[in-house]
Amino acid sequence: MTIRSRIVGTGSYLPERIVSNAELTKTVDTSDEWIIERSGIRQRHIAADDETTADIAYQSALRALEASGVGIADIDMIVLATATPDNTFPSTATKVQAMLGMEHGAAFDVQAVCSGFIYALAVADNFIKVGQAERVMVIGAETFSRILDWQDRTTCVLFGDGGGAVVLEKSEEGDGIFSTHLHSDGRHGNLLYVDGGPSTTQTVGHLRMSGREVFRHAVVNLAAVVDETLAANNFQRSDIDWLVPHQANLRILSGTARKLGLSEDQVVITVDRHANTSAASIPLALDEAVRDGRIQKGQLVLLEAMGGGFTWGAALVRW
Ligand code: UT7
Repeated sequence: MTIRSRIVGTGSYLPERIVSNAELTKTVDTSDEWIIERSGIRQRHIAADDETTADIAYQSALRALEASGVGIADIDMIVLATATPDNTFPSTATKVQAMLGMEHGAAFDVQAVCSGFIYALAVADNFIKVGQAERVMVIGAETFSRILDWQDRTTCVLFGDGGGAVVLEKSEEGDGIFSTHLHSDGRHGNLLYVDGGPSTTQTVGHLRMSGREVFRHAVVNLAAVVDETLAANNFQRSDIDWLVPHQANLRILSGTARKLGLSEDQVVITVDRHANTSAASIPLALDEAVRDGRIQKGQLVLLEAMGGGFTWGAALVRW
């Protein structure tokens, strides 16, 4: 029997504070109508001053552990996707490892910005497939509010903070992750980046984005990786039950759904309430749709994301 990894529990966490579009209009020249029309975003959660990416990741991980019924003693590895780590080093993953009271195994961060969760999932899935791990905690957690230029209306209205996690477990029952597909193209690094870092400016820097250009690439790259993923597994577009996409822009989500021939109610949408939470957006959306009963055992779920780098990727999962 083929060895695969399957998701046995999901969890997520959003900071308490909600910031509406209306609140943003007090500090930047924007409007509720513009933000909703161009992005579909109505509000975002913003971390408290003393709340870090590790805190958010920890809460998400606790909830995923609880949902899975797996104890921390049985987790072999933590793979954490973030572009907003607590510190340059040590990794946020090792910080979360300590918070969870885990004194064994290995923990490390993965950096692929908004595609981070797909990358982390792929890493964890492959560790399980080759037999080097039986259970892996995969987390996507971000505090993008800390790297936004709050005077730049073209970016600050689009992002939010949050986290999500899944527990992956070895399975020989034919379910689980069928395949993961990762891509990057570093030539486009200047279209979505942070203008600082330890080795360049010795500062953290702020997010900069050429939104229209990123949008154009996202539509093309996501369509290609979705087709590649289906073809690799001999599935048709019509076989997909649920699309759980990275949540950057409602127009990108709707466009991908249309291309796949999916109705909008087969797409898990959280961008309206969470905005773009980068590596956290897929596990946040997944957790919501699992907990409210939309995603059911046996269904085919497609995850996809595109982000800075550029990076993009997809994963196909039999729930
Ligand atoms: O997660 C990683 C991947 N990221 C993405 O996928 C994001 C992709 N890009 C997008 O989602 C969209 O491009 C945006 C939502 C960022 C922007 O939407 P757009 O339809 O591409 O608008 P635009 O950038 O072409 O801007 C249109 C106009 C501009 O004015 P002019 O030059 O036409 O006079 C902007 O200055 O809207 C203006 N504008 C704003 N107006 C009010 C830009 N930001 C704002 C704002 N409020 N917040």
